[in-house]
Amino acid sequence: MKLFIDTANIEDIRQASQWGVISGVTTNPSLIAKEGRKLEDVIKEITTLVDGPISAEVDESTSEVMVAQAKELVKIHKNIVIKLPMTPDGIKACSELTSLGIKTNVTLVFSVPQALMACEAGATYISPFMGRVDDFGESGADLIERIMVMINNYGYESQVIAASIRNLAHVEQASLAGADIATIPFAVLKKMFCHPLTDAGLDIFAKAKKQ
Ligand code: E4P
Repeated sequence: MKLFIDTANIEDIRQASQWGVISGVTTNPSLIAKEGRKLEDVIKEITTLVDGPISAEVDESTSEVMVAQAKELVKIHKNIVIKLPMTPDGIKACSELTSLGIKTNVTLVFSVPQALMACEAGATYISPFMGRVDDFGESGADLIERIMVMINNYGYESQVIAASIRNLAHVEQASLAGADIATIPFAVLKKMFCHPLTDAGLDIFAKAKKQ
């Protein structure tokens, strides 16, 4: 499973990219707003740090407005992926951008029928939100599993990005369900290194060296 970082924070991206395991970046309007900078400026800077797909989200609007915004965003860099909302206009924009050869990421996916629509529109990526589904009282892990079955049944080429990841269990569940990618906040990525037995083992070895 490929690992993307889910943030618009340049320092976090810089640090995580040094590990050599981050192959893409996803942003969203909340993450951009947190940085207090223009979407275009943040995205441009991210392209200098990560050589992989970088999702930039268009404003929820008519398909015409979203397509126009997408055409401007892709001028920033060849790695830009246009993130579109799971709405009729978002799907219409997805179909049009697909026919123009522009990569897309359909976001805010919470069900198999929604994922199916995105696949049929030729989405490059589909982002089901694990954490928010759990918060809603359903299972994010189960959602990823069911979407993977649907995609494999028909051989769709859309890749699943497990999103809204809140903890290590989500990372594990996404990987066991066969998600292509997980987009992970920096705080959770750092936790992926950790296990108390690793710390205890390091302690034991350090003590042994001193004897
Ligand atoms: C996905 O691309 C989104 O940016 C993100 O995973 C949303 O997660 P949240 O539910 O923590 O806002």
